[in-house]
Amino acid sequence: MGWKRRCCWGGGGGGDLLCRLTLVLGFLLPACRTRLYTNHWAVRIAGGLPEANRIASKYGYVNIGQIGTLKDYYHFYHSKTIKRSVLSSRGTHSFISMEPKVEWIQQQVVKRRIKRDYKPGGTQSTYFNDPKWPSMWYMHCSDNTHHCQSDMNIVGAWKRGYTGKNVVVTILDDGIERNHPDLMQNYDSQASFDVNGNDFDPMPRYDASNENKHGTRCAGEVAATANNSHCTVGIAFNAKIGGVRMLDGDVTDMVEAKSLSLNPQHIHIYSASWGPDDDGKTVDGPASLARQAFENGIRMGRRGLGSVFVWASGNGGRSRDHCSCDGYTNSIYTISISSTAESGKKPWYLEECASTLATTYSSGESYDRKIITTDLRQRCTDSHTGTSASAPMAAGIIALALEANPFLTWRDIQHIIVRTSRAGHLNANDWKTNAAGYKVSHLYGFGLMDAEAMVIEAEKWTTVPPQHVCVENTDRQIKTIRPDSIVRSIYKATGCSDNPNHHVIYLEHVVVRITITHPRRGDLAIYLTSPSGTRSQLLANRLFDHSMEGFKNWEFMTTHCWSEKAAGDWILEICDTPSQLRNFKTPGKLKEWSLVLYGTSIQPYSPRNDFPKVERVRSSPVEDPTEDYGTDDYSGSYIQYLKLEGTRKDHRIIEWLGLEETLKII
Ligand SMILES: *[C@@H]1O[C@H](CO)[C@@H](O)[C@H](O)[C@H]1NC(C)=O
Repeated sequence: MGWKRRCCWGGGGGGDLLCRLTLVLGFLLPACRTRLYTNHWAVRIAGGLPEANRIASKYGYVNIGQIGTLKDYYHFYHSKTIKRSVLSSRGTHSFISMEPKVEWIQQQVVKRRIKRDYKPGGTQSTYFNDPKWPSMWYMHCSDNTHHCQSDMNIVGAWKRGYTGKNVVVTILDDGIERNHPDLMQNYDSQASFDVNGNDFDPMPRYDASNENKHGTRCAGEVAATANNSHCTVGIAFNAKIGGVRMLDGDVTDMVEAKSLSLNPQHIHIYSASWGPDDDGKTVDGPASLARQAFENGIRMGRRGLGSVFVWASGNGGRSRDHCSCDGYTNSIYTISISSTAESGKKPWYLEECASTLATTYSSGESYDRKIITTDLRQRCTDSHTGTSASAPMAAGIIALALEANPFLTWRDIQHIIVRTSRAGHLNANDWKTNAAGYKVSHLYGFGLMDAEAMVIEAEKWTTVPPQHVCVENTDRQIKTIRPDSIVRSIYKATGCSDNPNHHVIYLEHVVVRITITHPRRGDLAIYLTSPSGTRSQLLANRLFDHSMEGFKNWEFMTTHCWSEKAAGDWILEICDTPSQLRNFKTPGKLKEWSLVLYGTSIQPYSPRNDFPKVERVRSSPVEDPTEDYGTDDYSGSYIQYLKLEGTRKDHRIIEWLGLEETLKII
């Protein structure tokens, strides 16, 4: 409804008509895949800035400068080329590609990037004098009478002294109202930029419909000033907050790369609540420049500790979209965040997939309360919604953990989230416990984030061992995918045991890189089962995805095998369920797939910490088995249910945290 759509349903523009036409002819043409070329180029030139400038002027370009942190990459602009064209540009300026020093050049195309909000269809004792504080239910959820039952323990983290001091967060969006009374105190100009206008001022563009309110709303969730008698309280209310204005204009690969690589020695956390269309038929992800920006950020950002990229998992629930088709949320470099309503029910916009790491609160049904935050024109809103609201909340919580321990690497943060998030009362029919004892779901990842548990872990955290990457190439035999049947491919992995630099014993992320041809992509479902028996759904059927393009080296990622062992039989299953919408009968083919195992060769945690996370169930009376297994309260005896890497034993007594506990191994 109210999302910003940049091509098909957005306002005006020459490409728009073409897109509509393409839509009408959707059954013949891949819907709305018209490329729109801009008059901006990304160019790789060796030899430094003077050389780049010389070449630029020789061919009539203006060199706008280096692209973010990408060495030898420059942003060239050609004013005599039309701004948006369906044809790539030709003319004397295009001879630049013959120039020997020009190693690579790419005319930037407009990418469709959609903001992840939508327009709808307590009794807490006052800590703060901000008028909206009492109604900020997700900050003090356990002590109110509403549906909200599991707390993200934000107040608990504050009470331990962490409020985001010295942590810098930026919001990649449509700008930030830097003079908002709840933002100006924490506003950080060094964490801000206007990529759309190519200047330093990220102020949003104002119009009658307040179209560009999104970034300002996200910013307030992270770092609105507390106790200033104005409006709301941010989760990390002493953090520094900036904004990058990059969605209010053509989004290109270069625009994304510049945004993702802004000031990586100063900014710690980048929060993005946008992505490719969540229309249930798009498969799209970062292109070459944005990929490099992610990799540079991870390798060199925060002086080598790695930039933290937080991403909204997507709002395509109603279009039955699956977030594995979004290469941003699906990346190992982003922390992909899902949403739950205060009742713990699945929100209608939620997208399922195996790459989601964790969840924070957001809106749900129309009667559920929404998120309160800063709004455009120095106002406040109590109706911020969607996964858009969840990613900045996670960014705020991570800021608290980074204050507790500024030396956490990008992977430490993911480990801490896995270990501390909780299933709580979050409602899903697919919760399962992996072989390392972590409960995980395709709706919610490892569950609701817990700020207090995170700062406690952060305080005592030891950096995890170096990341190893093991690429297991399975055999290249082409397999036919027959309708109404399952193609099964089993691969015996060693975890690259013959190569000490790549050897993975303990898993973190697992990626399946796959090439499939298929007459109707939306009819495919893909599953991966780990050697320990954890089954991840890598792709679900998508009703609207009529594409005949299949998948070309697409990377599906799962977090569900976290801390399991890498070696053993991995099973890939591809199910083809032909829908009536299928026009072509040629069967699909699995052309090739490989398994990319990420993890460590050394156990990442000290033995005490390494004890599998278990669900604690009071012996009697029987309570909700998903009940919180606390951070401090380890008193009492519990029956613990856990699955230990295939071993089946009966009851036994063990020492855990100094307490005698009965374990039932199932
Ligand atoms: C907020 O300010 C009020 C005074 O307006 C003060 O009484 C209260 O203690 C402050 N709260 C915090 C958490 O600092």
